[in-house]
Amino acid sequence: LRLPGPGARGHARLGRSGAAAQPAAEEPREDAEVSTRKKTFSEVQTERLDQAERTVLIKCPSKLNEKKLLQYLSSHGNVKSHFFFENRGINALIEFSEKSSIASLQDAVGIPSASEHHVVPFKSRLFTFTLKNPVSQRIEDSPLHLSPQCHIPVKDLIEKLCLADSISSQMYILLNEYQLTEENIKLRFLACSLVRDFACAYFPDSTVKPFGSSVNTFGKLGSDVDMFLDFSDAGKHATKLKKSPFEMEYQMKRLPSERLATQRILSVIGDCLDNFGPGCVNVQKILNARCPLVKFSHQPTGFQCDLSVSNSIAIRSSELLYIYGCLDSRVRALVFTIRCWARVHGLTNSAPGAWITNFSLTMMVMFFLQRTSPPIIPTLDQLKELADENDKHIIGGYDCSFVSDLRKIKPTKNKETLDVLLVEFFEYFGNFDFRKNSINLRKGKEVNKPESSPLYIWNPFEQDLNISKNVNQPQLEKFIAMARESAWILQKEDKTQQMIDKEPWGLAALLIPFGKSNSSKMKNRMKGIGSETIRSLLDSLKLNNANSQQKAVGK
Ligand code: GTP
Ligand code: MG
Repeated sequence: LRLPGPGARGHARLGRSGAAAQPAAEEPREDAEVSTRKKTFSEVQTERLDQAERTVLIKCPSKLNEKKLLQYLSSHGNVKSHFFFENRGINALIEFSEKSSIASLQDAVGIPSASEHHVVPFKSRLFTFTLKNPVSQRIEDSPLHLSPQCHIPVKDLIEKLCLADSISSQMYILLNEYQLTEENIKLRFLACSLVRDFACAYFPDSTVKPFGSSVNTFGKLGSDVDMFLDFSDAGKHATKLKKSPFEMEYQMKRLPSERLATQRILSVIGDCLDNFGPGCVNVQKILNARCPLVKFSHQPTGFQCDLSVSNSIAIRSSELLYIYGCLDSRVRALVFTIRCWARVHGLTNSAPGAWITNFSLTMMVMFFLQRTSPPIIPTLDQLKELADENDKHIIGGYDCSFVSDLRKIKPTKNKETLDVLLVEFFEYFGNFDFRKNSINLRKGKEVNKPESSPLYIWNPFEQDLNISKNVNQPQLEKFIAMARESAWILQKEDKTQQMIDKEPWGLAALLIPFGKSNSSKMKNRMKGIGSETIRSLLDSLKLNNANSQQKAVGK
């Protein structure tokens, strides 16, 4: 039995080693991910999915003897990695070296007898660990290390930020507190893999893969898991058989539209999860949405999940963002900062509505990073030029090709600090001519708006769609006002004085809802914004101030 040392099961990333504020000397100076992660998006996905297939989840007693647990498991095979986390009690994620260990474990355990519960005899990968002899359950000398699955509250973050020595350091601290940990990523892939066990009952060749922020490097602890059912491997198999005189009928009933097929598939998988899925609760089928999906809570992992059917464009968006996130240390630090800032000020909201979405906000940050001089990240057209034959993707008539090998992309010559980039971001969008211009990441240029939506961000792949169509004028104006206010706060501040006065400074000052005292000053800075909405906007700001901090701290 190979027992991983403390390093192997601890946090893989910088800065998450404890809840207490760290001294300035230990502050993370850059994004450790950028220097280590050079794998392509699909390499990472394949590796993680394979890992998840070899993984089980074990509910443990509160007084757990870690050694005993591992010793017991070793009789089923080598445990490659493991960690513990809190979610309605203590749980262990166990990754075996071989998939066969899972069958061995499943064969050796009992299913609760039907006299206690009326169970569905489905062999899952969720187990409960109990030992009959209480002596062997003695607590070990060293306490169990529990890997956190949510980020610290904003108020604790603000305290930590105040101890940093620059805004750049503050931004990296925020990144390291909020980003997905190695452990959380494993848990996300496991959730997908457990859903796959059900999908396979109907569609043996299907897989379930995560997309969105779980895999695009911009995921935050606590964000949902977007997953999709993928039949592309089954499709590859079908093309191989093309020369045969037989056509397979079993794979799918012939239906008049792809949308109807998607709805039928999601409907049965949704029912299956609802009726038989251990720990799948609050299953909601939302089949009439533009993109049909099934929403559910996965209690064993603690995730809110959105399951849809393979959406190739969304996967390309995830890969594009993954590439941008891997290119330069500053990219993720700026995105996490702007997302957190937007959330605190009520510019984004987890409920659907006229708010800017995190996805749109991320695209705005990418666009800003294309507009810096020299640009920090390339345009989508430049990434397309670097693409080779294997990178070719034509989806629904749209050319979605771009380079997948990160090594082919030249690093930027731009050496600007994050301190400067943060102010410049706020200035750029505080003064952006939203009435006339739209945001186009393919060209990396402001282009005339093709229609009158208040905020127009071109879908990078389906060029006739606006990803921020939902945003209304008051929400856009609130964003502009907050951006101007933030640029002004950063420029006027005297850091040394604020530190002496023990006042929040830099990023910390931006993560506190702007109080009433600021609203008259803000009025001046909002000159030039459509006057008809200013009054209602200021009123709503006042109302939202109290609410938004509570929400942000609560999430
Ligand atoms: P968080 O969940 O907020 O952390 O970010 P996310 O990027 O995962 O966003 P969300 O869960 O809302 O959406 C998941 C994915 O769906 C995104 O990453 C996009 O790929 C895609 N998506 C979301 N909204 C839109 C949209 O308005 N247009 C398009 N084309 N794709 C979208
Ligand atoms: Mg998401």
